[in-house]
Amino acid sequence: MRIVECFLSLSRSLDFSHQGLMHHHRRTALIAAKLGRAIGMDSGELLALMQAALIHDIGVITWQEKLELFDLDIKSPWEHCLRGEKLLRANRSLQHLAGVIASHHDRWSGNNPSGIKGAHIPLHSRIIHLADRMDILINDEINILEQKAWIMKTLHGLRGIIFDPDLMDTLDDLAMHDEFWFDLVSPWEAYILRSMAPISHIPLQLEFLSDIAQLFAQVVDAQSPFTNQHSQGVALLSRFVGEQLGLSPEELEQLEIAGLLHDLGKLSVPTEILEKPDRLSATEFNIIKQHPYYTYWLLKPVTQVFPLADWAAFHHERPSGNGYPFGKCDDELDLQSRIVTVADIFAALHEDRPYRPSMSWDKIASTLKNLVQQGELNNYLVASLLDNRSLVNQVWESL
Ligand SMILES: [Fe+2]
Ligand SMILES: [Fe+2]
Ligand SMILES: [Fe+2]
Repeated sequence: MRIVECFLSLSRSLDFSHQGLMHHHRRTALIAAKLGRAIGMDSGELLALMQAALIHDIGVITWQEKLELFDLDIKSPWEHCLRGEKLLRANRSLQHLAGVIASHHDRWSGNNPSGIKGAHIPLHSRIIHLADRMDILINDEINILEQKAWIMKTLHGLRGIIFDPDLMDTLDDLAMHDEFWFDLVSPWEAYILRSMAPISHIPLQLEFLSDIAQLFAQVVDAQSPFTNQHSQGVALLSRFVGEQLGLSPEELEQLEIAGLLHDLGKLSVPTEILEKPDRLSATEFNIIKQHPYYTYWLLKPVTQVFPLADWAAFHHERPSGNGYPFGKCDDELDLQSRIVTVADIFAALHEDRPYRPSMSWDKIASTLKNLVQQGELNNYLVASLLDNRSLVNQVWESL
């Protein structure tokens, strides 16, 4: 499994918006990689640049914030830069990208909160900045070649003010070829990016995957104050149940990753629906129902070492076949999927929701037992939580 595959797939979760599923991170990465290659970056640098470009807007929380970034002249881009920097700074495997993300809107001429300007701005940030602004100028409704003159003219108007003049010259060279433009709107964008990524023979380590999962779990949990520790909670509770059942350390680590990422698909649900205090309309519920489906397909390409997509995405499936969206039945649900399901239900009942407060232990216990009686949950999994009240509370408080 290649690191670039993991980034390519997960970055898709950052592209949901009011305009539908966009190509912003992939296209920014594509332009950035072309610029990096044109200036002769070595393969290690190029890989780091592609990684940073694929998650450059990781600090954006709401869809409204995303919308504002689609103005060429963003009023205040700094908040999402700093949030992204903070998330990455705290991440064991991705710290090296923090500085680049912090400065990805820094202007060449200065006046940046970072206090730096010109060639003092990290090169990767300057490249991502130019690539990012170029992407938002592209209109998918119009033939790309009809737009190129206007796009280049617009970017040139900001040469030396916003953008590094040398990088603008490099872009001029690239822009002479129609192929460059066709690549930007190509249906094979992921294939092109993959083929540009330097081959690294280091396999994706579980520890690295776990750090990436932590990062994306934080992004998911930040969507709403009601869920601000939900993914973390589900991950720790899943691990706890796995420990009670005697799973190996490696299996526990894998299970925790599935817990962290189970709601990744929620990034496809607008904040207004996640936080709606009233009953959801049928249309809104249809949107909610998509989230495990998206979790599945966002995670499917990430790893083949263990069935991450199944374990994470089947948390609304029920042995009776009455769950959603896959309608899986008893023997199609493996142990890990069921553990994540129990942990998810327990965590949700333990948390406030816009439409109800958190439940007491007794209320949670009776709700879970009811589900066991209806054949929707396994008794021994529920018991591994309910029989360990003080330990479970410790896990919860450790959040
Ligand atoms: Fe940005
Ligand atoms: Fe961006
Ligand atoms: Fe959940």
